[in-house]
Amino acid sequence: MKIAVLPGDGIGPEIVAQAVKVLDVLRGDGLKIELEYAHIGGAGYDAAGDPFPAATEKLALASDAVLLGAVGGYQYDTLPRPMRPEQGLLRIRKGLGLFANLRPAMVYPELVNASTLRSDIVSGLDIMILRELTGDIYFGQPRGVRVLDDGERQGFDTMHYNESEVRRVAHVGFQIAMKRNKKMCSVDKANVLDTSMFWREIVTDVAQAYPEVALSHMYVDNAAMQLVRAPKQFDVILTGNIFGDILSDEASMLTGSIGMLPSASLDSNNKGLYEPCHGSAPDIAGKDIANPLATILSVAMMMQYTFERADVAQRIEAAVRKVLQQGLRTGDIYEDGKQKIGCAAMGDAVVAAL
Ligand code: IPM
Ligand code: MG
Repeated sequence: MKIAVLPGDGIGPEIVAQAVKVLDVLRGDGLKIELEYAHIGGAGYDAAGDPFPAATEKLALASDAVLLGAVGGYQYDTLPRPMRPEQGLLRIRKGLGLFANLRPAMVYPELVNASTLRSDIVSGLDIMILRELTGDIYFGQPRGVRVLDDGERQGFDTMHYNESEVRRVAHVGFQIAMKRNKKMCSVDKANVLDTSMFWREIVTDVAQAYPEVALSHMYVDNAAMQLVRAPKQFDVILTGNIFGDILSDEASMLTGSIGMLPSASLDSNNKGLYEPCHGSAPDIAGKDIANPLATILSVAMMMQYTFERADVAQRIEAAVRKVLQQGLRTGDIYEDGKQKIGCAAMGDAVVAAL
């Protein structure tokens, strides 16, 4: 298991250090794990003048999986766009062909009271959001700022999806649904956007190969509402890049904290990049208060999807559950009567539970 470790910026290094503790335990138990570190995001810019340095790309291409912390920081906000940390993230996704982004939103029974939504709305929730990750308005050309004939300036981007892009992610969605409750809701804006009308047509066509899966379609505005009104109606949500970006942040709050949500970004061979859904949180960086559980759960996803070791994934998930049952909480999921601990202590607690 050759894993590239890219801690990145902000809280990235602290949370990744906790996930590495978990990997060290697994190695001690006999898994052949090799770790190699590289820079990405602002850390890449500082070290090599590029948010996705060539050395990082080379390492990522040569590895089976990538473990990433987070990118971004105030000090990089004024850099020209190609040098911004987010570009490192977008380039590694595109460069490795990681088109299928799995963002599970599940509510641990121990945390139902941590959600801002009523517990009867969220308890037992288990949704998988599948976000297309290498197409859409994120990567569409042309884009930029131009001057119109009348002299007015205009900012513009291009939304488009190729048929092959929609087909391959739809197949992944149906395959995931087959392993779950066989329900998939494809989210689009087909009442307004041609790209979405086309998306819907292709998804409907791919569905013919999966007669057991109940496919539905929903407009993204309605989906945003339904996610907070009655989220348990969903099993798998399949959607494009920008809608998935927005809906996955929304779904994270159903679970109590975005600090709990792992993610996997897979290519067509299940090589993957694993990262927490949350960002670099520069305001709390270096204070040892960040929640490392999303990153640790991302290692569980890595074991499940890239290394096909569902047993190891379950072991990590069980350890996280145990720590929550023990009443240990970082600040983001803290409630009265529980024990508030820091990032490193949370990592140690998971290691002990393992
Ligand atoms: C995410 C993030 C990224 C995205 C940003 C940091 C570029 O919000 O992973 O959801 O928009 O994809
Ligand atoms: Mg996002």
